[in-house]
Amino acid sequence: MTLKEKFKDDFWVGAAVNTRTIQTHKELLTREFNSITCENEMKYGEVTSDGITYNFQRADKIAAFAHDNNMAMRMHTFLWHNQTPQAIFENATRQSLIHTLMKHIQKMADRYGDQIYACDVANEVIADSQDKILAGGIFRKSPWVDIIGEDFCDIAFHASKAALPNAALFYNDYNEWDEGKSKRIYALVKGMKERGVPVDGLGLQCHWNIKSPNFDQIKRALELYSRLDVKLHITEMDISLYVDPADPLMEKPFMQAVEKQASLYKQAFSLFKQYSGKVTSVTLWGVADDETWLDQFPVNGRKDWPLLFDESHEPKLAWQQIMDI
Ligand code: GLA
Repeated sequence: MTLKEKFKDDFWVGAAVNTRTIQTHKELLTREFNSITCENEMKYGEVTSDGITYNFQRADKIAAFAHDNNMAMRMHTFLWHNQTPQAIFENATRQSLIHTLMKHIQKMADRYGDQIYACDVANEVIADSQDKILAGGIFRKSPWVDIIGEDFCDIAFHASKAALPNAALFYNDYNEWDEGKSKRIYALVKGMKERGVPVDGLGLQCHWNIKSPNFDQIKRALELYSRLDVKLHITEMDISLYVDPADPLMEKPFMQAVEKQASLYKQAFSLFKQYSGKVTSVTLWGVADDETWLDQFPVNGRKDWPLLFDESHEPKLAWQQIMDI
């Protein structure tokens, strides 16, 4: 039995990949997963550095891999405050930036639209804590809101609907279990629905660690989001064995931490299954522990083991416990 077989009636099981891991992790990827997301290769700043000339070489390789191996693909992401060519903001007016964004969305849709079942139209536009919130609003400060105004997100969804009529359109964010932030995320999606903005889903990144968030927070937030009339995708899940940048370094994963991680994964997947009418895709942010962004973040060079397969691509305790659900 594999992950994708286990949850075939519940949700897609995905992994984030890059041009290297589609080769080095091919066997594992094609055996266990049926959906992929490009870790970076389809981000705005990765396909164009000046906003004018595009280079699709790396994204094309991954799209071809998905096609050849009959895997579904999530698109990530059109509108974000990171990894975006700064040139598009220079001397931009509201109208010119809207035009630039619409052209970008159309370009990505023309190239990959046929393969995409879901798309993170906007990523992380909600402010983290009260003090960063724009007066009266819910958004983090960014050139998007500064130049276009508070309807920038609505505009991106309308443009995406026109360009990608068959893909489910998602808003994606992190710290989605935080009580304050979850209210703002809820308000954004609810407001879009009420205004007739074509939002189909909410993406929950789920970058967790073995202590935080606690499971009650997770349940509370999922219950809140399930009241929205949208699909929920788990988009970037991993569970770090470190809780804090100052934690003592582990040379090998401590058994206690590994057991905690496994039980959290099991609880989480059980919960996603309970909500399987709502949760229709669950993506891990990586394939196996030999390649994870958490080796560089938040501490550069600190090895972490956040995924379901170990450094030799063998199933971990977490995988076994998930398969016991
Ligand atoms: C955020 C983004 C992802 C990725 C991760 C870190 O969650 O949405 O695209 O950059 O950070 O790898």
